[in-house]
Amino acid sequence: MKVLVTGGAGFIGSHIVDTMIEKGYEVCIIDNMSHGKERNINNEAKLYKMDIRDSKVIDIFQIEKPDYVIHEAAQICVNNSITNPVEDAEINIIGTINVLEGCKNAGVKKIIYPASAAIFGNPKYLPIDENHPLGMISQYGVTKHAVEHYLRVYKYLYGIDYVCLRYSNVYGPRQDSSGEGGVVSIFCDKVRKGETPIIYGSGQQIRDFVYVKDVVRANIMALESEKSGIYNVCTNTKITINELLICIEKIFNVDIDPRHVKERKGDIRDSYMSYEKIYKELGWKPQYKLIDGINGIKNHLKFLSIDKF
Ligand SMILES: NC(=O)c1ccc[n+]([C@@H]2O[C@H](COP(=O)([O-])OP(=O)(O)OC[C@H]3O[C@@H](n4cnc5c(N)ncnc54)[C@H](O)[C@@H]3O)[C@@H](O)[C@H]2O)c1
Repeated sequence: MKVLVTGGAGFIGSHIVDTMIEKGYEVCIIDNMSHGKERNINNEAKLYKMDIRDSKVIDIFQIEKPDYVIHEAAQICVNNSITNPVEDAEINIIGTINVLEGCKNAGVKKIIYPASAAIFGNPKYLPIDENHPLGMISQYGVTKHAVEHYLRVYKYLYGIDYVCLRYSNVYGPRQDSSGEGGVVSIFCDKVRKGETPIIYGSGQQIRDFVYVKDVVRANIMALESEKSGIYNVCTNTKITINELLICIEKIFNVDIDPRHVKERKGDIRDSYMSYEKIYKELGWKPQYKLIDGINGIKNHLKFLSIDKF
């Protein structure tokens, strides 16, 4: 079986590629390398260095004829979407339509797509389930959600099965710690450099951190199941930013004295999500606790002898 992974040189996509190859799938990647890294690319995967905004990507689907597509490539930065909404829509919507047209022409059986908790905005109730009302507060939230509609339409018109996975805050090795990268990788990076982590507000904000290996497993279970639909991928575990820092402090065996600054406009106060639906229908639940995941990051940094970066 062949899988085409867009964004397969990025954080989540590259972990998906590695696991699919271990499981015996043939894998090819489309990635423009805007955020992807050479060192993330599995030797056994074929890379097409292309931009999904370019309609020529549709030809790659004809050449490769993948059975399945996992579409991770995206503009992922909330702030970029606010300052450059056109580019955000071009990548996340137009780029995705090119991917879907490729799927249609090549007879792809199923596509797996990552949406985001960003589509809910400030929660009306917790934990957030799949029926929670939408309330996007950024263009990124809008474009990630728009694709959910395109997926339904492509299934209706052309019979392409899909699963849309709404991730909470994904963390793990290979996550970018620059810019708006995940808070876990930013904190770990600060700690290894001996710098002071910054906490916006009191640090009592609640988040739901899901480990990348659990996310990979959700993608593969979704791909291999008969189901189509929308599922949260999360832990339903409430972790405050202060608790996160304590956990990092223990694992890296350091004392951390964070700097508190004013809360950022637009940040969501508390968010955690329910995984009841995906557990009932696909049998998925998270296996990694935060402490295991952060140990995974620490081992990865050691393995890379991180000083070189
Ligand atoms: N990381 C999270 O916490 C999180 C949460 C919810 C949803 N998601 C979604 O998961 C997916 C993967 O996110 P990630 O954290 O691995 O990000 P990432 O930036 O590490 O990976 C995205 C990959 O897509 C590639 N890419 C970007 N624009 C492209 C384009 N125009 N053409 C081709 N390739 C392009 C980048 O080079 C990169 O390798 C994204 O769709 C993101 O919206 C992530």
